[in-house]
Amino acid sequence: MYSTLVFLHSLTRWFVVVSLVYAIWRAYSGWRSQRTFSKADNALRHWTATIAHIQLIFGILLYMQSPAVKYFWKHTKDALHNWDVTFYSLVHSLLMLSAIVVLTIGSAKAKRMSTDGEKFKTMFVWFLVAFIVLFVAIPWPFSPLSSRPYFR
Ligand code: HEM
Repeated sequence: MYSTLVFLHSLTRWFVVVSLVYAIWRAYSGWRSQRTFSKADNALRHWTATIAHIQLIFGILLYMQSPAVKYFWKHTKDALHNWDVTFYSLVHSLLMLSAIVVLTIGSAKAKRMSTDGEKFKTMFVWFLVAFIVLFVAIPWPFSPLSSRPYFR
């Protein structure tokens, strides 16, 4: 169960990153070129947030199964000296949670805007902020915070 969740959580990261980068690009180009906010743009807004929510569910399930997190909450005082354990138990989870909240608010706000330009701009700004936080919190192999492989 645990290794399946790690595999799924690691894999879904790519869907989150790719959909978010594409949504940010579409929002930016739509805003700058004053394009119509099409059905495809709206579907992209919706699916980008939905993929992030699926990853959130995997993350929460993983949080409940992870030996590192279990160790953290059982031996918090000692575990605070172990950066990798603290990273997943507090830093990664809280940053990701915040990024997904920002993404969700941005998606909901964009949906409610009255003009196409405002929809694109709102989607661009909120999704970009979410992306920056998310990118920093992902344990890329090159991350100074914690590194894990690109694929499991
Ligand atoms: C879009 C959001 C997220 C992305 C892109 C993401 C990405 C990742 C990646 C790439 C890993 C490394 C997997 C590996 O070991 O190969 C990881 C580990 C982990 N994530 Fe996330 N994550 C996200 C959200 C969350 C959330 C919201 C939580 C908890 C509420 C969470 C909990 C964890 C835990 C506990 C681990 C470490 C598991 C372990 O090593 O035992 N993640 N995450």
